Amino acid sequence: MRHYGPTKRILVTGGAGFIGAHLCEKLLEQGHEVLCVDNFYTGCRANVAHLVLNPLFEILRHDICFPLYVEVDEIYNLACPASPIHYQFDPVQTTKTSVHGAINMLGLAKRLKVKILQASTSEVYGDPAIHPQVESYWGNVNPIGSRSCYDEGKRCAETLFFDYHRQHNLKIKVARIFNTYGPRMHPSDGRVISNFIIQALRNKDITIYGDGLQTRSFCYVDDLIESLLKLMESPDDFTGPVNLGSPDEITILELAQKIIDMAGSKSQICHKPLPQDDPHQRQPDISLVKEKLGWQPKTDLEEGLRKTIEYFEAII
Ligand SMILES: NC(=O)c1ccc[n+]([C@@H]2O[C@H](COP(=O)([O-])OP(=O)(O)OC[C@H]3O[C@@H](n4cnc5c(N)ncnc54)[C@H](O)[C@@H]3O)[C@@H](O)[C@H]2O)c1
Repeated sequence: MRHYGPTKRILVTGGAGFIGAHLCEKLLEQGHEVLCVDNFYTGCRANVAHLVLNPLFEILRHDICFPLYVEVDEIYNLACPASPIHYQFDPVQTTKTSVHGAINMLGLAKRLKVKILQASTSEVYGDPAIHPQVESYWGNVNPIGSRSCYDEGKRCAETLFFDYHRQHNLKIKVARIFNTYGPRMHPSDGRVISNFIIQALRNKDITIYGDGLQTRSFCYVDDLIESLLKLMESPDDFTGPVNLGSPDEITILELAQKIIDMAGSKSQICHKPLPQDDPHQRQPDISLVKEKLGWQPKTDLEEGLRKTIEYFEAII
């Protein structure tokens, strides 16, 4: 381990993606060196273009399905397409990234004896039979559906993290991230907030799948980054899994209406059939993260939406 002072050299896989780019930015602000590893499958250089002149920042084009030999003090493993459109485009690659990628990054962490954090997901709960979801709930996941490459890939990655922890005493952190939104979301990833904002800004019909009464909760990206940093810094005996997200529920219909109003749009709402395995309700119980890390989201939905709408206005 090469750790000479309060600052570290930190590897962020998937660092050119939506969440990864915000994380790289924050770690650099804290004075750390950041090695951003990305194969640009869904991420892009534009997300980190503002960081490249920083001498503490380095980008490496690399697919984590292959072993990586670098020297770092800490690892955030975020690489994985996160939106259904992207992860279903090449489902075998999605599972490989989750599983082979986890094995490679865990192998690296083991060799270097460094701490590693896994970006897991609320999708490990599948279509949950309990509400809100607590970490002790084992989930309700279809193993053979079109979302399974992601859900089961992430579940297997969690298993690998805990086996490396038990078998090799590796220091691990497992974050179960719920819906997150904000600037740098991919404009065509089909996620609900980016979709609605783009449709609203273009005054196009806003598509709602099903009756729109299904609920979601959304966490602004700055809040999520704060929780990931706190989790990484937490005592070694706190491994997670821990839910990170916002517990404030909103129906998809209410969300669409809010975005139409805030964007000053003329869009109308139209309904289409629900896709397979779309969960009806998704809301984290965040008691554990509140108790262990003293964290809860601070940004209210309107403020977060305003910043996100401004971002999409600028790029489309
Ligand atoms: N955004 C959310 O709401 C959300 C929710 C739950 C979990 N997560 C998890 O957080 C992480 C980041 O999500 P995001 O929203 O920033 O997604 P994203 O698609 O914007 O970012 C993922 C990044 O990983 C890179 N990548 C994909 N496969 C790779 C591979 N094999 N090797 C190297 N790089 C690879 C992509 O190019 C991209 O830059 C993901 O692991 C995702 O599963 C995100």
